[in-house]
Amino acid sequence: MATSVSQPPEHIRLAELWRDPYPAYRYLREHDPVAWVPEAGRYLVTRFEDIMHVERHPETYLSSENPSLMTRSIGETLLRQDGAAHRRLRRAAEGPLRPRIVKEHWLPVFRRHAEDILATVAERGEGDLFRDVAGPFAARNLAALLGLRGVGDTEMQEWSQAIIDAGGNYGEDPEIWARCARAVSDLDTAMDDVLPVLRRAPDHSVISSMLHADDPLTEDEIRTNVRVFLGGGLNEPRDSMAAAAYALLTHDDQRRDVEADPALWKRVFEEAVRWVSPIGMYPRRVAERTELAGRVLEPGDKLGVVVASGNRDERIFARPDAFDIHRTDTSHVAFGGGPHFCLGTWVSRAGVGQIGLPLLFRKLSGLRLTETEIPFGGWVFRGPLRLPAAWDV
Ligand code: HEM
Repeated sequence: MATSVSQPPEHIRLAELWRDPYPAYRYLREHDPVAWVPEAGRYLVTRFEDIMHVERHPETYLSSENPSLMTRSIGETLLRQDGAAHRRLRRAAEGPLRPRIVKEHWLPVFRRHAEDILATVAERGEGDLFRDVAGPFAARNLAALLGLRGVGDTEMQEWSQAIIDAGGNYGEDPEIWARCARAVSDLDTAMDDVLPVLRRAPDHSVISSMLHADDPLTEDEIRTNVRVFLGGGLNEPRDSMAAAAYALLTHDDQRRDVEADPALWKRVFEEAVRWVSPIGMYPRRVAERTELAGRVLEPGDKLGVVVASGNRDERIFARPDAFDIHRTDTSHVAFGGGPHFCLGTWVSRAGVGQIGLPLLFRKLSGLRLTETEIPFGGWVFRGPLRLPAAWDV
């Protein structure tokens, strides 16, 4: 993850951002903080303060982008709506994801999932922590949160990936559209089973909350919005868990500190999502003529809010490229901000930071990596691509 060389925005290639975006972001922060990047078809906003400004002015910087690949593949979800329409959808979903319900109801559920998954892998002595632990753990937690029943970890991960791929299908690959359509159809079938059950017998799930809200959502609205949870609620906890595990497995001193003082696990999670932000960039659209960091923007201009860059901004963070759980500059924008601030923030903090990571290191004693070069990939979504490890049996 070197951060030395870089190039002006017109030369920035998406393939290069996918491999390692940080040198380009450093250049942009320094020389062109609201830069037109032709290959991205957007102005990339790369400084922390400008990202905060965008988030504080949602009437100027809209979330709706229509037509967008996401609305085309999964429909009009809360993520790409603004104002009162967005608030209504969000309010119907947010109850089960609030800190109190997470603490009282979801923590024990996440603990059971982590214990089951780790018990299965423990006796093997080796495996890929990304594929065998972080992926299934994120999938099982999300199925429970949503209220889906009888859906396996593999299916959840396939559906999620199919939805994500369609949201980025700029090349119009027909196979990607077809896979997303199949995932949406299979998810609809799973919803056919749970909707009548949850209508009769409410529980703590998101689908139940949408059905029984003060201003309840229609079944069509519920189906559409569950798709965005599936696309946005699985790979980020998976990737943050894998990135945090990688960080500790390559920083012995900090690993010793957290093993000696479990209160530090929270810091491990927050620092991991700052260091390698699982969502690196999300889109906004300019509503009215405005100026940002000296750049005049016109209505309809498209922005990419690059939280992965804001989280490495040297104006805010000392030694921004270093993983450091003891840093005092701890505010970050990995969960976004403003009206679309991540609804899964508290479940992720609890699931990954309080349960998944501590149990991983406790149950797999002697945990160590078995490869020295761990590949990371992505700029819109980013994380380790695999995490081969061994442990004592
Ligand atoms: C480490 C974990 C996670 C990170 C870093 C993360 C990051 C983000 C970010 C940056 C946004 C804002 C996107 C935008 O404004 O366009 C967002 C929104 C959202 N996230 Fe997360 N997320 C995480 C986990 C989750 C989980 C586990 C769930 C589901 C349980 C979830 C559900 C959502 C939803 C529904 C939204 C849209 C909220 C709205 O539009 O009002 N996220 N997330």
